[in-house]
Amino acid sequence: MEKYFLPPRGTADILPLEVPLWEEIENMSRRILRIYNYKEIRTPIFEETELFARSMGSTSDVVQKQMLNLAGQNQKDAEGEKSSGLSLRPENTASVVRAYIQNSFDKKEQLSKLFYIGPMFRGERPQKGRLRQFHQIGVEAIGPNSASAYLDAEVIALSVNLLKSFGLKDFKVKINTLGSEEDKSNFSKILREKIKPYFSDLSEDSQQRFERNVFRILDSKDKKDKDVIAKIDIKHSYLSEESRKYYEDVKAVLTDLGVDYEESDSLVRGLDYYTHTVFEITGTSLGSQDALGAGGRYNNLVENLGGSKVDAIGFALGIERILLALSQNVCVKETPIDIFIIALGENAAKQAFKILNELRNVGYSSDMSYKASSLKSQMRLADKFKARFVIIIGEDELNKNIMLLRNMETGEQKELALERYLEILGEIIKQ
Ligand code: HAM
Repeated sequence: MEKYFLPPRGTADILPLEVPLWEEIENMSRRILRIYNYKEIRTPIFEETELFARSMGSTSDVVQKQMLNLAGQNQKDAEGEKSSGLSLRPENTASVVRAYIQNSFDKKEQLSKLFYIGPMFRGERPQKGRLRQFHQIGVEAIGPNSASAYLDAEVIALSVNLLKSFGLKDFKVKINTLGSEEDKSNFSKILREKIKPYFSDLSEDSQQRFERNVFRILDSKDKKDKDVIAKIDIKHSYLSEESRKYYEDVKAVLTDLGVDYEESDSLVRGLDYYTHTVFEITGTSLGSQDALGAGGRYNNLVENLGGSKVDAIGFALGIERILLALSQNVCVKETPIDIFIIALGENAAKQAFKILNELRNVGYSSDMSYKASSLKSQMRLADKFKARFVIIIGEDELNKNIMLLRNMETGEQKELALERYLEILGEIIKQ
């Protein structure tokens, strides 16, 4: 037997019945993001691998274990430099920052509020809620001297408003602060000191993370690591007065905006670029992959990628996780069409095909059966497409120069004269 193909592991087809739900989420997002004055940006789905390593950190799990590399690694470029190759984007913050720098947005506007909706790729072990191709709705607010407690709180509130607009209720917002780059380096020193006495109780992976990137131990899902973390007291001893004040201000604005949040000192996020405010939103009905979205401030990334000193904050929500969290409350439905045309006989089919194209030209969603079949089976098709109206044309109607119009909801039928049918149809459909 011929081999038949399955989609690659960790990817999924989004089938026609599911697409309206995706569209609803995308349209709602675009509407709300425009209300907050965000502008859409579309960047390539692959970039130089080095861009991701430099932004997320070469010791982050994403860069170490999950990059989906394309060809070109170690090949020499025009200057004879070894290239890091190209990789599918695991996230979009780095690409947006690359585009921001390349287009000198910092010279053109004080604050660039950008959003994106699109696929991301991570070579993770697939499981429920964890895919290799998944989709994010994300925002990045980037601008020189733009760090402000109002902006941080607004970005968090925006992520909450988006989730609410999709109909989600059961989620929690966790926030923390990592402080400035200097505070972060203090934080890692303090963390090493506190974890050191329990070093031998850590998982093998976390023993390696201890020197390389101690923050990753706080993200670990391994029970051994979780037990160690539960024993140590982290608190905010690493913060400067200024960073502490900034965090207090963000919390105060969040409270003013009516956003419910919990503080979590172990929330550090798995990517290296974060500074100051970080947050994560978890769905209470989801299993182990419970993060609906996450984000935070990253005041050094633009500079680290070759731009000027520019502050930034953003987040990304995972669409598949949102759909999983919604799946109890939504049912997928066929999208209705305006009109289905039933033709009975060869001559009627010719006339019906002409009418079908006239209907489409004036904007009615419409369809017909392209093969001759009985009235009953064509009616079934009209039902399947949830047509609001059906036009029936048979020999009789052709001879009389009319068509039958049936309202599928009321069952009411009317004869329409062929030469004026569009005009009369317009009146009826408007009602
Ligand atoms: P992240 O936490 O890596 O952050 O991903 C954000 C969201 O994407 C997650 O909360 C989750 O909903 C979804 N997600 C991530 N990986 C997968 C996966 N394998 N399968 C399904 N969904 C997934 C970022 O990507 C940052 N760029 C967010 C950000 C923007 N920070 C600042 N600006």
